[in-house]
Amino acid sequence: MRSGKPEIRIVHDAEALAWAAAEVVSRHVDEALQNKRTFALVLSGGSTPKRLYTLMGTNPSLRARFPWDRIHFFWGDERHVPPDHPESNYRVANEAIFSNVPVPPMNIHRVLSENPDANEAARLYTQELSAHFHLEQGELPRFDCVLLGMGPDGHTASLFPGTLALGEKHRPVVANWIDKFQSFRITLTAPVLNHAKLIVFLVSGAEKAPALRDVLEGVETPGRLPAQLIRPIHGRILWIVDRAAASLLEALKKT
Ligand code: 6PG
Repeated sequence: MRSGKPEIRIVHDAEALAWAAAEVVSRHVDEALQNKRTFALVLSGGSTPKRLYTLMGTNPSLRARFPWDRIHFFWGDERHVPPDHPESNYRVANEAIFSNVPVPPMNIHRVLSENPDANEAARLYTQELSAHFHLEQGELPRFDCVLLGMGPDGHTASLFPGTLALGEKHRPVVANWIDKFQSFRITLTAPVLNHAKLIVFLVSGAEKAPALRDVLEGVETPGRLPAQLIRPIHGRILWIVDRAAASLLEALKKT
């Protein structure tokens, strides 16, 4: 396994980013399933991965490449809304992927975010992980691949600057109160994200350029830039970014 040093792949635009991500995920699925029965994929929320999910679900050559019955789907975070709500991350994936390809319902491990008690939703999601990965008390799940986005403020999943979840060292899932939304988000925490075999950040758009430069090339201030918390312990981290998002990176200036 490569060290946790980030690999940065700069692609032309959002469409190229979606295709590059599809290739990376597909190849990682194929490699992993040489040695085991199932693959645990964590989907990111937000808008950046929508094109990727649509390609996975509807592009004839891509959809044929995924062994859908052997892939288990999880979420890096979920909004505290029902699964049919316009803001639901599950809903995005359901419309783009699950309504187009034969993923067995038991392979879809969504956050029960309709539960009015966000802490209970987090507890149930923790139980779901524990059951799927057959975890001992206190053991963290090891996902095969985690897809993550990044906000213009450097947040990832629902690890927002200055929020309590940033300090979580043990629990894999927490309900994180986000002041600016005046709502909870259920989110995987840095310890479990960093336990993954492969972490793929997908970052697109000029509005992300300052944060991407600060996260990748700036001073270590993870309380202000939570994406800096994401450092895989034994795995690999790959940033797939388009030129607009990468426009302030030193790395781009060298090309
Ligand atoms: C969410 C995501 C969040 C997202 C970033 C980027 O639930 O919104 O998990 O971390 O990845 O906010 O969002 P965009 O892709 O929409 O820019």
